[in-house]
Amino acid sequence: MDKKKMVYKLICGAVVVALVIALLTGLLNGRELNYHKDALTGEDVTLVKVDAPTAVAYDGTINADAWNEIFPYITASMKDNAKNDGIVDYLEQDPYLVNIYEGFGFAKEYGSARGHSYTLDDVNHTARPHPLANCLTCKTPNFAKLVQDQGVSAYKMDFQEVFDKIKANGEAISCYTCHGNSAGNEGELRVTHMYVNEALGANAASIDPATLSCGQCHIEYYFTPADKETMMPYGSVEAMDPEAILAFYDSFVLPDGTVGFSDWTQESTGAKLLKAQHPEMETYLLGQHAADLSCADCHMEVKLAEDGTVYHSHEIVSPLSSKAILETCVRCHGDTNMIEKVHRIQDQVTARETEIGNKLSGLKDGLAAANAAGSLDEETLNAVRKLYREAQWFFDFCYVENAEGAHNSSLANRCLDLAAGKIAEASALLPAA
Ligand code: HEC
Ligand code: HEC
Ligand code: HEC
Ligand code: HEC
Repeated sequence: MDKKKMVYKLICGAVVVALVIALLTGLLNGRELNYHKDALTGEDVTLVKVDAPTAVAYDGTINADAWNEIFPYITASMKDNAKNDGIVDYLEQDPYLVNIYEGFGFAKEYGSARGHSYTLDDVNHTARPHPLANCLTCKTPNFAKLVQDQGVSAYKMDFQEVFDKIKANGEAISCYTCHGNSAGNEGELRVTHMYVNEALGANAASIDPATLSCGQCHIEYYFTPADKETMMPYGSVEAMDPEAILAFYDSFVLPDGTVGFSDWTQESTGAKLLKAQHPEMETYLLGQHAADLSCADCHMEVKLAEDGTVYHSHEIVSPLSSKAILETCVRCHGDTNMIEKVHRIQDQVTARETEIGNKLSGLKDGLAAANAAGSLDEETLNAVRKLYREAQWFFDFCYVENAEGAHNSSLANRCLDLAAGKIAEASALLPAA
């Protein structure tokens, strides 16, 4: 009996020792996951009021070099965006895209985004056709300023002419983009892209400026048929939902009086299709964090400089690659391993994208075949075209959102569900292969 007790105690002791060792090595191995609760936040940032530098660029914008003396850490960190220089070729990674996007520029070239420093280089080199200056909307503060000065006629100007001037004298995304010339006023944020206020009106005030400054570009947009002006397809946060945006495009009255906006008509299928663009602000604002956090909270580190200045690093990073940002998640997520949490969502969403993208590509082939063979009556053919348009829209809205579900996994899955449902409905109307 005593012997048994002793064995029992020994076993318990061994188990306890093993647990302690496991815990300690776990903590050490996972040091970066062992968040502490006193991370610097935006509230610790040093804010100063200073006069703006007098040196101005050719168009009246104050550029980063002129701010450098006043805000050396911020300016240097913004230049670090050049470190994010890798491009993934999405067409190679997901070949079904070439088929879905047939007839549109994205079938020629579609690579992942990289750092803000490269916007001018990348827009100039893309194989996608870009005849008009409106392609410069999200690339440079100097184009935003041109629109402010000249009005919407700037969008229709010749791309190369405007590009060459800005390349020689202007900048890629810079201080003016998010601050106007007011950065010295405690880092005041200003919307410099006119269409944001035009589209949202008074509702713009309901969005945190540290989110809206990014949302000037990280959004779904279209070019108005008449002026080729960049425009957002909604006027409020509620209307940012992909189903509401589709309804907006479907009921859009074109200059010739016909109804329905499309980015292109696909020759092989005869379908009028939509191309979604990086709707990060939309997915984010409809997600779990909108009420409490801004884009800056998760993508800009708060840093302590040697001289004691606390500032927002203007190098835009993934929260997963920043210990300082991960430490801020603990306030609400406790000790959850955030890297695992995010990767689990992304793996689930991207696996479904591949499955549904391939099915969409199959539907496109079936529709093109029926279109060529004349094997369907016009009414059924148009019904399939409409379902294909809708499926492509919902699939694309999820695919082109760069967080791959991390900003809003339920919206990503809803889009994929809608796409899958439309594909099934359309396929049932096609003649058996
Ligand atoms: C892409 C948008 C963007 C660009 C470009 C940008 N900023 Fe900022 N800036 C922000 C955001 C967002 C914040 C943080 C606001 C917040 O969370 O309160 C900020 C904060 C600041 C602040 C307040 C202090 C601090 O560290 O938070 C200053 C000053 C500032 N920026 C100056 C600059 C200067 C100078 C440049 C150019 C070298 C620049 N910014 C470029 C978006 C931008
Ligand atoms: C003036 C338009 C504009 C504004 C404002 C802007 N961005 Fe961007 N952003 C872009 C463009 C364009 C790219 C792609 C650049 C390239 O690939 O050449 C990009 C790239 C990025 C990337 C890199 C994507 C990747 O896959 O690595 C991130 C992250 C990002 N932006 C986040 C932000 C955040 C956060 C803000 C606000 C603080 C912001 N952006 C403000 C236009 C903008
Ligand atoms: C709660 C934190 C959080 C907020 C707030 C947030 N994001 Fe993100 N974002 C993420 C995570 C997590 C990822 C996935 C990062 C990864 O895959 O490494 C991501 C990815 C991205 C990407 C793709 C980056 C890449 O490397 O491919 C962009 C662009 C982006 N976010 C822009 C924004 C914009 C714009 C806003 C505001 C409208 C915003 N984010 C708000 C957490 C956030
Ligand atoms: C102000 C509180 C708060 C902070 C800070 C916060 N989160 Fe969250 N987050 C939530 C809540 C609430 C949810 C919803 C419940 C859940 O999924 O855990 C959530 C959900 C998520 C999700 C799942 C989203 C989805 O749609 O499935 C991800 C990913 C996430 N958070 C990432 C982050 C990251 C990364 C950080 C730190 C950079 C962070 N969060 C900081 C409150 C917060």
